[in-house]
Amino acid sequence: MSSPAPFSEVVRDRRAIRSFLGKIVTDDVLHAVLDEAQQAPSNSNTQPWIVHIARGAARDRLSKALLRAEDEERYSLDFPYDGSVYEGAYAQRRQNQARGLLDALGVSRDDETGRRLATRCNLEFFGAPQVALLCVPGFAGPRITADAGMYAQTFLLSLAARGLGGVAQTTIGFYADTVRETLGLPDDHKLLFGMSFGYPDKHWTARTPRTGRATLVESVRFHE
Ligand SMILES: Cc1cc2nc3c(=O)[nH]c(=O)nc-3n(C[C@H](O)[C@H](O)[C@H](O)COP(=O)(O)O)c2cc1C
Repeated sequence: MSSPAPFSEVVRDRRAIRSFLGKIVTDDVLHAVLDEAQQAPSNSNTQPWIVHIARGAARDRLSKALLRAEDEERYSLDFPYDGSVYEGAYAQRRQNQARGLLDALGVSRDDETGRRLATRCNLEFFGAPQVALLCVPGFAGPRITADAGMYAQTFLLSLAARGLGGVAQTTIGFYADTVRETLGLPDDHKLLFGMSFGYPDKHWTARTPRTGRATLVESVRFHE
């Protein structure tokens, strides 16, 4: 196993990966990543995350079931998602992100089929041989989901530190019942989102622009 890259480099180099090689993440690497993710902080050290990893036949079964659910418009979200709540600069950033992504795929604004195919790539895990399903206990509210966010970022950074990558996917969270049924999860494992992960396809990363960030002035206020 190669040694992890320096922290600042990892933070700045990490990006959402949306094309993976077929190479499987071995158990030793996966356990090292999961062990680092497990170090994430949480309210009162409650560690309210439950992670299911689908790989091999289970991964293929899940992808098929998700695509079928999408065909049949069988949505089941444990946590509602409403894009219309974003206002002002937040709405603008959201729009820029979607446009940048579709431009990179060569999908035009009015190409409904292209947009749908782009969404369906999420359900094929962008070719990744493994996907993590990030769940929280049934009683979870916003503070517990924030803890799970801490976990997810630690997981993604740990992958990046090893030359691997991943992408958080709300899109998978649109099919919570399908995930539970297919993997045989208990009802009280509530699905927040999925994370496809593995070895990045370097051709894809080379030709896909990175997302930008707002300036610190827009996000940070000092009080003295
Ligand atoms: C909670 C969460 C959910 C996301 N859901 C999706 C998704 O469903 N599909 C997708 O392609 N990207 C998804 N993303 C990736 C974001 O679009 C991406 O992180 C953002 O545009 C910033 O780009 P970067 O990760 O490359 O820095 C999600 C990210 C987060 C944190």
